[in-house]
This record gives sequence, structure tokens and C-alpha cells, in this order.
Amino acid sequence: MIQFNEVSKTYETNVSESHALKNVNLTINDKEFVFILGASGAGKSTFLKLIMREEIPTKGDIIVDGKSLAKLPRRKVPYLRRKMGIVFQDFRLIEKMTVFDNVAFAMRVIGSPSKKIKKRVLYVLDLVGLKHKAASFPSELSGGEKQRVSLARALVNAPNIIIADEPTGNIDPEMSIEIMTLLSEINKNGTTVLVVTHEHELVQQFGGRVIVLDDGSVVSDSGNLGGAV
Ligand SMILES: Nc1ncnc2c1ncn2[C@@H]1O[C@H](COP(=O)(O)OP(=O)(O)O)[C@@H](O)[C@H]1O
Ligand SMILES: [Mg+2]
Repeated sequence: MIQFNEVSKTYETNVSESHALKNVNLTINDKEFVFILGASGAGKSTFLKLIMREEIPTKGDIIVDGKSLAKLPRRKVPYLRRKMGIVFQDFRLIEKMTVFDNVAFAMRVIGSPSKKIKKRVLYVLDLVGLKHKAASFPSELSGGEKQRVSLARALVNAPNIIIADEPTGNIDPEMSIEIMTLLSEINKNGTTVLVVTHEHELVQQFGGRVIVLDDGSVVSDSGNLGGAV
């Protein structure tokens, strides 16, 4: 469960202050599928970065699985992140590594044994339909395929939460539907999924809870209105 308690975030820059989030209060339950919508600059990425503890609130606190992120010591942050699979708009694959190694990397970092790595990596690549591309390099893949690799990488350590910041922002509409379908299947298997997007058509097609941010504030939340979950 993720709880935002009166969370505000202000970025201090040399020239000005930027109020990225203003007094956000909400709860995301386990196994929810949540879309976060809003115009550019609305605070969507900040919202996700606070959950990953890439940023720290200026005010308020975020509770993830009962633990206060404000009180979480820096050395415990890697354990928090292990619960989370992250998908970025620009894929962030390592170009000189094969598809297999890009996905395996996340398991090697935490010291998993190589036999387990091989089995699991091939399993998640199969899940995203890319087992046959295990030996390819990112430069040999389409945008949609790259995003499926990054989804496999996000899944490989069996996270409780998948966090995707505009995962379909750099791929064509057909592939976007494929990525969303995969995220939806992952959710049905019990993983919480948070997806930032500005593609309203996808939201309509896939349903789920919709949180709309505008200028740092939550202006609508279908979950809190008793809408679809
Ligand atoms: N590192 C940063 N330093 C200063 N301002 C930032 C930083 N990151 C985001 N902002 C500002 O905070 C606001 C919200 O940004 P962001 O969360 O990235 O919005 P979105 O993802 O919805 O486009 C914007 O006004 C943006 O310019
Ligand atoms: Mg953003």
C-alpha cells in the first residue's frame, strides 16, 4: 500500500521556486491499476519519483508498505527499490549489452545465482514475447520491442509494484496497446501498476483508477469517488 499524507514538493532552483506537488493526500492499495494523467509540468513524474524516493517531499510523508519514506535511512533505499520495477519513456537499455544481459543485469546486481538468473530471464522474456531476441542488441530492436525488454527488466526481480513513466511516449500506437495489454496482464497477476500517460484513449480503453493532476494538485481521482478500481 502507498499512502500520500499531505505531500508537497517544491524544487528550489537558482532563479525560482517550483511547486511541483501541492498537498496531495491519497492511498493506492495493493493490486490496483492506476493511471496518472495530467498536462506536461503537472507533477506526474515528481509523484512517481517521490514513491521511488528519488525525490523527498518538502512537506508531508509517503508510507510504502507501512514504512515512512521520510524516516527511511539512505542505506535502506535499495531494499525499497527492489519492490519496484521501473519503466522509463526512453527505455534506458544498455546498448552494448544483449537483451538477455540487459534483463539479467538487475538480478546480477543483487547477487542471484547464474542458474536462477538464466531461468528467470528467459521466463520474463517469454512473457513479453521476446525470448527469440535474447541474443540481440537494443540497436536491432524496434521501439515497441525495446519497451518490452525494459518491461522484462522491470519484472525480473518479481516486484510488488510496477512504475511506468509515459511508457508509450516513444512508441507507435499499435505497440502502445501491446505494452498496456502486458501491464494489464501483469496487474491481473497481482502486481500494483502505476502508469503515467497523457494518452486519454489508452485510459478509456484500459479502464482502472484514474488520478488527474493539474498544476501539482489532484483535481480528480476515480478511486476516491468510488469509481472503477
Ligand atoms: N529537478 C527539478 N528542478 C526544478 N524544477 C523541477 C525539477 N523537476 C521538475 N521540476 C518542475 O516541477 C514541475 C512538475 O514537473 P514534473 O513532475 O516533471 O511534471 P510532469 O511529469 O507532469 O511533466 C514542473 O514545473 C517542472 O518544471
Ligand atoms: Mg514527466
